[in-house]
Amino acid sequence: MRNNIVHIGAGELTYEIRAIVKIAEQLAARGIPVQLENIGDPVAKGEPVPAWIKRVVSDLTLQDCSYAYCPTKGLLETREFLAARTNGRGGAQITAEDVVFFNGLGDAIQKVYGLLRREARVIGPSPTYSTHSSGEAAHAGQSPICYRLDPDNQWYPDLDDLRLSVKYNPAISGMLIINPDNPTGAVYPEEVLREMIDIAREYDLFLIADEIYQNLVYNGQTTRPISDLVGDVPAISLKGISKELPWPGARCGWMEVYNAGRDPVFDLYIKSIVDSKMVEVCSTTLPQKAIPLILGHPEYPAHLERRRKRYERFSNLAYQLLRPLPGVRVNRTNGAFYMSVAFADGLLSPHQTLPIDDPEVRVMVEGLVGAPNTPLDKRFVYYLLASTGVCVVPLSSFHTALRGFRITLLEPDEDHFVEIYRTVGRAMEDYLAS
Ligand SMILES: Cc1ncc(COP(=O)(O)O)c(C=O)c1O
Repeated sequence: MRNNIVHIGAGELTYEIRAIVKIAEQLAARGIPVQLENIGDPVAKGEPVPAWIKRVVSDLTLQDCSYAYCPTKGLLETREFLAARTNGRGGAQITAEDVVFFNGLGDAIQKVYGLLRREARVIGPSPTYSTHSSGEAAHAGQSPICYRLDPDNQWYPDLDDLRLSVKYNPAISGMLIINPDNPTGAVYPEEVLREMIDIAREYDLFLIADEIYQNLVYNGQTTRPISDLVGDVPAISLKGISKELPWPGARCGWMEVYNAGRDPVFDLYIKSIVDSKMVEVCSTTLPQKAIPLILGHPEYPAHLERRRKRYERFSNLAYQLLRPLPGVRVNRTNGAFYMSVAFADGLLSPHQTLPIDDPEVRVMVEGLVGAPNTPLDKRFVYYLLASTGVCVVPLSSFHTALRGFRITLLEPDEDHFVEIYRTVGRAMEDYLAS
């Protein structure tokens, strides 16, 4: 090329959660049955969508207006519905103008980081959901800046680490909180959130709270949405329907802006996000029409409660099955539907293997894990996949120095779920002993 046309942050855009599926597909083509425990799509994993939700959506398909563009920020009646729900909690007060729809939160996340000034950094958790860390790093053209989530303290944020990082890095302008968390399944208590907000206030940062799992909290835990606690700190809450309904294929999520108008720089930044949406025209119309009808439906609370109960049960099963294994750090998940399993430091080595029956597959895996600088947990994950068919995601791809993997709680059949976790447990023991 005449000039280098590659963006400075291009190398930061990786999504191992889906990349590994390519390998799984190659294995499946060779006749190895594959269990996909890598991606957070309950519907793809066989969770049935209730008939009443299907009826709401199918009725909407009969209306011509469902096929039209909607306003840039989204349908007014849906934004009013969502603003009223937030206002009804008594915390941050917003209007429909503070609610902006996107084509899924993935789209919102790209815009939130993509429209930041290059030098302005957002500190996020480590490990972190990689769409955030990749988006932030790509905008800056540098590695993400992180605060530590502590595997020895229920994966809660290390608040000293957070405070010191913010104090000594003046480029940090925002703080990301993911609560409940992906990839750890942690749910932060109110005191932790209050301390994080205090740090943001003290150092004049804005907050990004990814709350897509806010209503999937179980095991008797309680937490608060950021709107309850944010006070006067400028903040963006990211919410969506992919996980909660669940309807990930709708590609529909929204942001709520708290304390717009309190800071002129924050206002200009939010305006740039809306302007960028305007250039793009608008987001998907039909799911926005469905939101008030589904979230306001008399069957919705019981539907959500059933889902919470199911994840609670499977979270406890997973914990019972993996916790006794020596050399691993696991916490019971209290929200969302992922579990992070970390190997104790120094346990993994580049010589460990698992038996792989098919010689061609073995050669393929050896080639893949033989690439220079392959993280040791990626090596484990590939051997696990080729040896047992269980597909998980290496923890190293969630921007952390910890080595382990993320596995979902989504397999709906309980016996099968237990079998998958038993298989993973046995494979971990065999791998470490090899
Ligand atoms: C924490 C978090 N935020 C955002 C998203 C993206 O969701 P969406 O389907 O709305 O793009 C996910 C998806 O897994 C997620 O886990």
